[in-house]
Amino acid sequence: MPDSQSRARRQFLKFLAASPLLAAPALASPLRTLLDPQQPAPGSTLWSEKSDFHGDVITSPEQAFDLMEFEAAAKKALPPAHFGYLATGVDDDATVRANHEGYSHFQLRSRRLIDVSKLDTSVEIFGTTWDTPITLQPVSALKAFHPEGEIAVGRAAKAKGHLQMLSTVSTCSVEEVTAARGGPVWQQLYPTNVWEITRAIITRAERAGCPAIVLTVDLQENSNRETLFKSRRYDDRDCTLCHGKGFASYVSRKPMFDGLDVAKVTGLHFSGMTWDFVKRLRDTTTRKLLIKGIVTKEDAQLAVEHGVDGIVVSNHGGRAEETLRPTIECLPEVVEGVRGKIPVLVDGGVRRGTDIFKALALGATAVGIGRPYAWGLAAFGQEGVEAVLAILRRELETVMRQVGARSVAEISRSYVIGPR
Ligand code: FNR
Repeated sequence: MPDSQSRARRQFLKFLAASPLLAAPALASPLRTLLDPQQPAPGSTLWSEKSDFHGDVITSPEQAFDLMEFEAAAKKALPPAHFGYLATGVDDDATVRANHEGYSHFQLRSRRLIDVSKLDTSVEIFGTTWDTPITLQPVSALKAFHPEGEIAVGRAAKAKGHLQMLSTVSTCSVEEVTAARGGPVWQQLYPTNVWEITRAIITRAERAGCPAIVLTVDLQENSNRETLFKSRRYDDRDCTLCHGKGFASYVSRKPMFDGLDVAKVTGLHFSGMTWDFVKRLRDTTTRKLLIKGIVTKEDAQLAVEHGVDGIVVSNHGGRAEETLRPTIECLPEVVEGVRGKIPVLVDGGVRRGTDIFKALALGATAVGIGRPYAWGLAAFGQEGVEAVLAILRRELETVMRQVGARSVAEISRSYVIGPR
């Protein structure tokens, strides 16, 4: 429970304890025991007396019941500015919240009397079969959250059989992560404004065996990440000691830029990018080309027309612009736009197996997470990432059984109603 919530709860309990109602002798004792966290029920121990609990924050991955428990653990484990970087959206973070809340606007229609004793959660993407439709989306600079960074995530992805996407600004190299993953990862691409840099990143990813390049198109320079900016007030370290100043210093710790001349690069995000650039990329790589950040039918149609192989419906986890539009509500129109010609993945606000189920039912081929696995990593390293993945998969299997879907292939639009 966040500090503010537990403070509010304590205040409410204090208020009740002072209430004349509780002064009534007949009510006082049992009710007081029930309401006052300091009063143990007969024969029980207080939480505070249990050595493995610190407040409401889990201290090992196996204690977690759900993904949100890892957020609190990550907050406790990280310096304020690093947690702020992970948590931040833009402006009021309202799109971050909308992404998750969007799932609650869809309801499930459960079918009964179907033999669900055997489940098949596998999906096929570009000819490769994955054990689950849950993917690890590119999250930059994972060493900011744990010293083993993307390597720990690669090991977890290998152990649990998940597709992993690697950020252009990862803190471990694509070669290292491919080795840790024990197989190829998909390379995410921030092209910068200099074509030679774009070309070099693609060539390196291709040499490392990446079967897919994922061009992110939803970020322009200077998105207004206020939660990050404010979090720095609580961090007494000097950020420039690690981060330096300027682009060259920033990418000096990003292996994808090793040996590249970045003198002419003005930033990671290229504000002049158009569909001509997509065409140029299409002509440059023979690997699968996906665009990440598409949220409309019109752009989905253009992507197909430009020979793109796949789409990731994404608003960068609410870190781009404050649209207030959850990606789960964008998904159906993008699916309509591609008319079954190419796979459509989705991410943003996925925190439960039911969220994954709903996205699959609305036409997603696979469903990605960003922050949740970074929370697991920050709190407990590889084990934390594995635990996050295991919980999500267990939850997905639970809902599949409950609603009578025996395989991912069987999950169709008929299982959901909404948005409402
Ligand atoms: C991201 N995301 C991201 N996307 C991308 O294409 N390249 C990147 O380098 C990053 N980096 C990054 C850092 C951090 C700290 C976060 C939280 C996110 C976006 C990411 O791939 C994904 O779209 C969202 O994280 C999905 O939303 P949730 O699951 O975090 O709600």
